[in-house]
Amino acid sequence: MPKVTFLPSGKVIEIDGDTTIREAAHLIGVSVHDRCGGMGACCNCIITVVDGATNICPKSVVEEAVFYLAESDRLSCQCRLSGDVVVKTI
Ligand code: FES
Repeated sequence: MPKVTFLPSGKVIEIDGDTTIREAAHLIGVSVHDRCGGMGACCNCIITVVDGATNICPKSVVEEAVFYLAESDRLSCQCRLSGDVVVKTI
């Protein structure tokens, strides 16, 4: 199963392909800002991908519309994995 490593805490969790990075963070007590419960509406659940960007599904329409996302930033509620990633929470 894909593994997510969260920085700066260093916490690691293995998740299946149906679990989002936001859900993974909540499962192991990593704080990810969100105000919409993972519906893709608040655009607050930003993470920075440090490694493994190609192991995350392509950016969603919602993410493409958020002008202030840097190239390496994603909305964690939109991210499902096919392999290991390292991400930084902000
Ligand atoms: S949790 Fe609101 S957009 Fe991701």
